[in-house]
Amino acid sequence: MRDSQTNPAWDVLLDLSGPGPRHERLTRALRAVIRDGTLGESATLPPSRALAVDLGFSRWVVTQAYEQLIAEGYLAARTGSSTVVRWSAAGAGPAKPDRPMNAQAGIDLAPGLPDLRHFPRERWADAVREVLANAPHGEFGYPIPGGHPRLRAVLADYLRRCRGAVVDDVRIAFGVTDAFGRVCRALHSAGITRVAAEEPGWLKLREVATRAGLDVVGVPVDQDGLRVDEIPSGVRAVLVTPAHQFPTGTVLSPARRAGLLGWARDVDGLIIEDDYDAEFRYDRRPVGTVQGMDPARVALLGSVSKTLSPALGLGWYAVPPQWTDLVEPTPSPPALDQLAFATFLERGAYARHLRAARRRYRARRDALVTALGPLPLSGVAAGLHLVLDLREDAEAAAVVRRAAARGLRVSDLDDYRATPSGPGLVLGYGNLADGSVGTAARLLREAIGEEASRT
Ligand SMILES: Cc1ncc(COP(=O)(O)O)c(C=O)c1O
Repeated sequence: MRDSQTNPAWDVLLDLSGPGPRHERLTRALRAVIRDGTLGESATLPPSRALAVDLGFSRWVVTQAYEQLIAEGYLAARTGSSTVVRWSAAGAGPAKPDRPMNAQAGIDLAPGLPDLRHFPRERWADAVREVLANAPHGEFGYPIPGGHPRLRAVLADYLRRCRGAVVDDVRIAFGVTDAFGRVCRALHSAGITRVAAEEPGWLKLREVATRAGLDVVGVPVDQDGLRVDEIPSGVRAVLVTPAHQFPTGTVLSPARRAGLLGWARDVDGLIIEDDYDAEFRYDRRPVGTVQGMDPARVALLGSVSKTLSPALGLGWYAVPPQWTDLVEPTPSPPALDQLAFATFLERGAYARHLRAARRRYRARRDALVTALGPLPLSGVAAGLHLVLDLREDAEAAAVVRRAAARGLRVSDLDDYRATPSGPGLVLGYGNLADGSVGTAARLLREAIGEEASRT
């Protein structure tokens, strides 16, 4: 195919059917049209924003697919901004990169993961061994709906002590995403059809709400967190990340917390608190949950995805009593995993792990902030990621592509916005090897180019 930028029929050209999330289906479809020669070598792909509009996908979906195919060698990010095919069917196989990938290729600075190298394997294995050795036969039956009572009790205790939550009845889910889906379906069954969500925010949860039949309304965030006054009238549910706004990293200010609770009482609404990485606050103690301030108005969601590993697929939710019966209690994660986590908590291994992880992340954050020198960073006080603002005239997507071409994965701030705004990057350091901090910073500087940073 010739210059594909002008091709108006991407939705026809690409076969997006099949299993998997959208970005995987798009990756597969693009790979297929490159491999069968429909998109010839040097064909130009549309800008991610344009293709996203054509396909009715979020821009994140398209940038993920482009990045994947750049990493595989099917596409290349050209200096400037366009993405081109660099694989030819005649050449039988992805072409050699036009310059060698950096020796440290494969550095991932996209947010999302905790430190996988430091998963507490031994202590987790001890907990599993203890469960296997001591659990009565009855525990090997089907998981109990709502979660194992032992985990529910010990987790409630943890949330009361460490997160300032007011909870008696904690239920177990597969993670925040799963718990949020259950709450959304409960909202829908109660006749609530709209949910407000922070803009920017984690778009995956918006997709979950949409799948549950809810309309999602974006509400802006500023340096004090969610602009409560901007929640449109008629909306009675809101998803927030009060302890550490994702991705900007702000904390919901005390005045906004009070305002949010006042809003919920006024509209007889539900606040859905995504407490996803609150344990990691470096410069002072973690802020407690909003749920603890008014448990009748707040559903609290959390998981071990940031504290231990998303591979465990363990999360929880505590909803106000009037919502309990509406939220589905099944399916439940494997009972033995629940018991292992209960044991892990009871033995103090979770608290020990969090203390060590906090120290490690703080040191890594300090090293990264130092290595990035005077670049304008924000959201550095907590969590596992920070935000780098780019100059107004910079194109973040081009920086992301240039970084990918150097073997460095970073995320465009626009990937977390329904409506694109000022250019910026989200840099996750949770799973960054300590030895790679300097290289990551150097590659990022190269990708940004001196002219694009806001210093
Ligand atoms: C804002 C936000 N909430 C929640 C989660 C965790 O979701 P889950 O528990 O489904 O893995 C993440 C993970 O990246 C996140 O970014």
